[in-house]
Amino acid sequence: MRYIIANWKAQMSFQDIKIWLKNFKKIFNKISCKNLKWSKNLTIVICPPFPYILYVREYLKDFSKIKIGAQDISTFLKGKYTGEVTAHGLQEICDLAIIGHSERRSNCNESDRTISTKISLATKFKINPILCIRTKEDIIDKNVKIIAYEPVGAIGTGKNADASSVVALKNQLKLLKKAIFIYGGSADSTNIQSYLATKQIDGFLVGTASLHPDEFCRMIVKMLEK
Ligand code: PGA
Repeated sequence: MRYIIANWKAQMSFQDIKIWLKNFKKIFNKISCKNLKWSKNLTIVICPPFPYILYVREYLKDFSKIKIGAQDISTFLKGKYTGEVTAHGLQEICDLAIIGHSERRSNCNESDRTISTKISLATKFKINPILCIRTKEDIIDKNVKIIAYEPVGAIGTGKNADASSVVALKNQLKLLKKAIFIYGGSADSTNIQSYLATKQIDGFLVGTASLHPDEFCRMIVKMLEK
């Protein structure tokens, strides 16, 4: 299975999101009508901020290729935890969750232990974790199927990592055969082909480029063409 995952971070207001969805639907409908071979193997994931998850899910419910993800989950199970958003609470509305993003590791001091708790909770509630790693030193839980390699210097900088360095890192990880290995870090429609050409990279975690529905759709088309 291949994945293209939009990580909107905290970049858009509700108004921005409504405009994004309207434009995306228009463009995506056009793509769907085109003579592209819709691969059963491509899943598109949108990860909005928590308050908008249900709205986005409802808006895109007719598109079976599109799944909804959370950008994070709480380390708490459930209960008296004001402000927390738990896997228990998200279980019916999210299919996946990004866990251990480098921005959370650095801005929120998330440790390997925190990340491991989050992975267990996501799995417990049937939310598929997308584990982000920054280097080969970051711990990879054996229960995780989707691993997103995002070198810190490539995130949001426009300086995407070389496809060959991404493959070299992947080979050092000794992943299980069924693991899905995706790349993130300034991925866009002009550079994803170099990763896809290696046949070793199963998709992309996309920040900046996902904020523009036309660009995000160009990336989807590139993945279908490949
Ligand atoms: P970027 O972000 O595409 O803007 O580099 C990727 C990410 O942080 O997941």
